[in-house]
Amino acid sequence: MKPWDGRFSQKTKEIVDKFNASINFDKRLYREDIQGSIAHCKMLVKQKIITEEEGEKIIQGLNQILNEIESGKFVFKEELEDIHMNIESRLIEIIGDIGGKLHTARSRNDQVSLDVKMYVKNQTKEVIDILLKLINAFNKKAEKNIDIIMPGFTHLQQAQPILLSHYLLSYVEMFKRDLLRFISLFERLSECPLGAGALAGTTFPIDRFFTANLLGFQSPTNNSIDTVANRDFIVEFISNSSIAMMHLSKLAEELILWSTFQFDFIEISDGFCTGSSIMPQKKNPDIPELIRGKTGRVYGNLISILTTLKALPLAYNKDMQEDKEPLFDTVDTLKNSLLITLDMINEITFKSHNLKKWASKGFSTATEIADYLSSKGMPFRNAHKVTGQIVKYCIESNKELFELSFNEFKNFSELFEKDIFDYITIEAAVNRRKSYGGTAINCVKEQIKKNYLFLKEYSKSGG
Ligand code: ARG
Repeated sequence: MKPWDGRFSQKTKEIVDKFNASINFDKRLYREDIQGSIAHCKMLVKQKIITEEEGEKIIQGLNQILNEIESGKFVFKEELEDIHMNIESRLIEIIGDIGGKLHTARSRNDQVSLDVKMYVKNQTKEVIDILLKLINAFNKKAEKNIDIIMPGFTHLQQAQPILLSHYLLSYVEMFKRDLLRFISLFERLSECPLGAGALAGTTFPIDRFFTANLLGFQSPTNNSIDTVANRDFIVEFISNSSIAMMHLSKLAEELILWSTFQFDFIEISDGFCTGSSIMPQKKNPDIPELIRGKTGRVYGNLISILTTLKALPLAYNKDMQEDKEPLFDTVDTLKNSLLITLDMINEITFKSHNLKKWASKGFSTATEIADYLSSKGMPFRNAHKVTGQIVKYCIESNKELFELSFNEFKNFSELFEKDIFDYITIEAAVNRRKSYGGTAINCVKEQIKKNYLFLKEYSKSGG
């Protein structure tokens, strides 16, 4: 039996039941659905739309259903389509016809909008908490490894020496932006959809402010038509997630590269790697590879939801049932990727000896020489050219810059003095970059301090 079968004379085809049903995935919304129903029921009682006795029975029944679901006893039925009708039908089974009063002044359209919005709210909160932990972990790692020098790259070519801590803090900046995006989404999830009805509101004297308040929203939504059609918050959640996954994927790519035999900058701990069935020596970075791979899935989910919504006439259309799988998949993928990254970074080993060794190779201090000459009065463009010639000479004579003799330097410019050798050490190169946000150790310490303050501020806001 379907709750809506009064108008129908034929049974739904079996294949249609299967095609139409969302219960296999939207059962995930059972908590939000029951919570919403309890609030709705309390409001119906307060407004004298149903009696107190009826309200009590309904709430008891709903709590029993919650228990049944959580203890695995609840039987979900495909022919009852979705979580809303499964719960309502079981309610009527348990408490009889009175259960049928719960849906007074409500439609599945405002019900599903409410459920999914509360779900996004809850998940956003969880993502915020994990991001705070991730930021803290990276900041701590930077603090612990404050003075390890490594090569900095542009175009994946040796560029300038940087501090490993500075590099780690660049990810903190990305995660801070991710965090702020989720916090701002959370703040925008402040209006309650319940009470919009099918699309036009309701004839019953409901109190939408009361239910909004019970459910932790600031106010009810303003327009009932928009309310049942609005899924912007799902688009935003997946969009925020896509950006966060992009950051995790960039990091994953570097971890993969850095753990190769050729780079040998890091050791990812065994727990995040797998071996090969044929090559005994292998230790493959499967987990960062999967994070990189799953990023594509989340982008796919974003395109999926945008495409589902793009040509829908107002108000509710069944197409919108397709909002859930991309959302749920995104929630799982993002949360798992964040948690695994958190663990992985806590357990990572940096090979400081190799990082340092490579930091001075590849003419990484060529910019120092150009800066040196220009600080002695040579225009920077000329200094750049002279240094370029020095590098060319080094390549031809198979030397690094720091291996040149004083006379060799002198051959290129009279401005060189003995202090050039101190000037081009990687330590000096790093610590001379004192400009705000630069890689000098004191600037990095400043960043770490600021990040702790940031964490303090946003931890107490708790989303
Ligand atoms: N399962 C539906 C969904 O996810 C619930 C709303 C159905 N409303 C309707 N009028 N058919 O969108």
